[in-house]
Amino acid sequence: MLNRHVQLADWVDRVQPSPTAMLESTVARYQREGRTVYRLGLGQPDFPTPDRAKASAIEAIQNNFTGYTDTSGITPLREAISRALRRDIGLSYNPDEIVVTVGGKHALFNAICTLCQAGDEVLIPVPYWVSFPEQVKFAGAKPVFVPTDAASGYKVTPESLAPFVNESTRLLILNQPNNPSGAVYSAKELSELADFCLKRDLWVISDEVYSAFVFKPEGYTSIASFPGMRERTVVTNAVSKTYGMTGWRIGYSAAPAAITQAMLRLQSHTTSNPSSIAQQAALAAIDGPQDDLENIRREYAARRDILVEGVRRIRGLACNVPDGAFYVWVDASGWRGQSLAGRVISTADDLADILLTQAGVAVMPGTGFGSPYHLRLSYAVSRDEMKNGLAAMESILGSN
Ligand SMILES: Cc1ncc(COP(=O)(O)O)c(C=O)c1O
Repeated sequence: MLNRHVQLADWVDRVQPSPTAMLESTVARYQREGRTVYRLGLGQPDFPTPDRAKASAIEAIQNNFTGYTDTSGITPLREAISRALRRDIGLSYNPDEIVVTVGGKHALFNAICTLCQAGDEVLIPVPYWVSFPEQVKFAGAKPVFVPTDAASGYKVTPESLAPFVNESTRLLILNQPNNPSGAVYSAKELSELADFCLKRDLWVISDEVYSAFVFKPEGYTSIASFPGMRERTVVTNAVSKTYGMTGWRIGYSAAPAAITQAMLRLQSHTTSNPSSIAQQAALAAIDGPQDDLENIRREYAARRDILVEGVRRIRGLACNVPDGAFYVWVDASGWRGQSLAGRVISTADDLADILLTQAGVAVMPGTGFGSPYHLRLSYAVSRDEMKNGLAAMESILGSN
């Protein structure tokens, strides 16, 4: 009999599956089986898509706005994104410096595949969002992990980056507000990082998908807004988290024209344009009144305080107060080597498994984010779900 072994491309062995997608499918299975699950694990806003966006999508369908669009997205949407960037981060981008993509993840993929290749090294502060290293490895480049700690607020500095830079270092991926730590950089910290990137001739990908959710009075600053940085930064963002539109799959990049043209070349041979209908919905969301965002921000800030207080009550867990996004990054190293539910806990994966199977609480273990002794809890869920989830956690883990 013939050996029908299939030879797959090298990247298949290099790239790991997304752990967040795996948790989503386990939770969905539990719910189908009728089990109660408190979902503190997922990065899915619980606020619905704005009505104006839904109406605009329905109108697009009724008006047969259902054909291909420009690969880079419809001009009114790129103009609206340009206005939003001027308003939110104080930078002017022409519509031809903007590409509308299939979610923020796709904008990152275009940028990473365009900026780096085999032989290049890419600085990734830990903890990081799960897809950064995998996309870098897909591109053939090497992720270089830069540690941070709770005392520094999980932020990198020129001093902490310097030992990891060499002549192959090409790029820094900066995500703030950070998923999973919630860290937000101040203007002063960003100015120092910007100087460092200029001196070391580094490009930056600035992933800003949580920029609408900053709880410090100073608000959000982009690293691209410092002198000399706009020319060496790709800003990525999306309507996904900001407007409760994760399923619509609309993101974007803003970058100098030369790199934008290169990213478009890649997009023209892969996805082409994102859905024409979803683009109309995104246009209505970005261009309409933004008052709801302030209410959502306030609600997230209140939930953050409830979650932080609840976590700090539970035995063996500790956390900082995050300044942005909608996650609490929980240090669970207190459980290392301890016994629980007849098992010895070696990493937070064990702890997360026990919480899900014995207490019905879904949390993300930190392993996929670069830290096997942390858990990521999300407060993009109702206060009731959060309180019930915390109570279930406390009942199995005990109180401080
Ligand atoms: C830091 C970060 N960047 C990018 C994305 C991707 O967003 P999208 O759903 O728009 O692809 C996510 C989603 O979880 C994220 O947390």
